[in-house]
Amino acid sequence: MALLIKNGTIITADSRARADVFCEGETITRIGPGLEAPAGAEVVDATGKYVFPGFIDPHVHITLPFMGTHAKDTYETGSRAALVGGTTTLIEMCCPARSDDTLGSFEHWLAQAEGKSACDFTFHMGATRFDGATESALREIVRRGVSSFKIFLAYKGAFGIDDGELYRTLKLARELGVVVTAHCENETLVAERQRELLAAGKTGPGQHHESRPPLVEAEGVNHLMTFAELTGAHTYIVHLSCAEALDRALAARRRGVNVAVETLIQYLVLDKTWAERPGFDGAKYVMSPPLRDRSNQDVLWNGLRDGLIQTVATDHAPFDFGTQKNMGLNDFTKIPNGIPSLEERVVLLHTFGVRQGRIDLHQMVNVASTQVAKAFDLFPRKGTIQPGADADLVVFDPDHRGTISAKTQHMNVDYSAFEGWRTEGRASVVTVRGEVAVRDGQFVGSNRRGQFLRRAPSRRT
Ligand code: URP
Ligand code: ZN
Ligand code: ZN
Repeated sequence: MALLIKNGTIITADSRARADVFCEGETITRIGPGLEAPAGAEVVDATGKYVFPGFIDPHVHITLPFMGTHAKDTYETGSRAALVGGTTTLIEMCCPARSDDTLGSFEHWLAQAEGKSACDFTFHMGATRFDGATESALREIVRRGVSSFKIFLAYKGAFGIDDGELYRTLKLARELGVVVTAHCENETLVAERQRELLAAGKTGPGQHHESRPPLVEAEGVNHLMTFAELTGAHTYIVHLSCAEALDRALAARRRGVNVAVETLIQYLVLDKTWAERPGFDGAKYVMSPPLRDRSNQDVLWNGLRDGLIQTVATDHAPFDFGTQKNMGLNDFTKIPNGIPSLEERVVLLHTFGVRQGRIDLHQMVNVASTQVAKAFDLFPRKGTIQPGADADLVVFDPDHRGTISAKTQHMNVDYSAFEGWRTEGRASVVTVRGEVAVRDGQFVGSNRRGQFLRRAPSRRT
């Protein structure tokens, strides 16, 4: 099947052009003005609209057993929500418990996605333990097409690893040319502060950020950077939330440490006062690292604009307010962590980033697509618009005006952290390897379309 997208303004990370895009099968084959559609081709009129490369979310959780419960989305619901929001590729964290078999967990995560996802997907493989069996499994998983690991310096007893395991995981990654993504918080400090707060009767959701202040995250970043410097591993800090943590990462980068930084859309548009809302409502806004003081937002936006921060993700982790967040009604440490936002990342970046002059359209494409593809061995198959690339395209209407609501969202969760927020712009048409999956903002795709993306490590070892 051929597809022609006509009369749009093509925006990539470094170019802008009024041109048509012609796709044959799964691939972009021609770009230029006045292209003619052959008989039988599907034609999409993009007059007045932008044509972006498909957006890539580098950090989501779909299959996630966590804190005594399970995140709500499946690939059926999550991939549809992603596509409606303009995201055509998901990179999911595969997070086995420490007691789980590593290879078996990878196969389990893959089975949850294969044949069920409407968009393409791949994984960061969680190294939640390190011993001989784990090492062999990780080597095998890299052979099967995964070129990034995930480690946690937090979540003691669940996913967290100790310093010996951290050192050995980074050495293996260095040897294999694999990038290591890392959740950076000092877990001992978190546990101590949680104990102190609960002992003082401070049990509400608004205490969550008191248990994990910026220095706890900065210490985690500094810790990882020390180990990265010693081992030479390539690292990627996930969900960086504050100035203190960014300072530590940038200091390490100046010393020559290989480190990329991801922030989240939540930190760019929400602050800690949302988690301090009266009653238990703040539980909707509990995630880790926590929402921060508003002053950090400028630091993060400027970091994106200036190329100090490479990517914007969601860390999508949906837990129902009515039946799951309330596990922590009397104890904030038991509130399942996560703020769902897979569907809104792109429109919020456009509304609060581009429209408010904090970043431009090219920077938006760069941080939400191109840099992700480059960091995780998907470029130039994904992350740009050029002949030979996958035909993952987003026809984006900048003039659309909408309102976010849990009632209309596709994510399988009973609330929206952005309920009632007004948005500017919308992914009108979205394609997955040449097939239209969203038309007029509505999902029209197939839950069998998505493919597992095999990635080969590209870092020099
Ligand atoms: O609060 C969060 N971030 N939940 C998901 C798990 C993680 O730490 O990435
Ligand atoms: Zn995390
Ligand atoms: Zn996460």
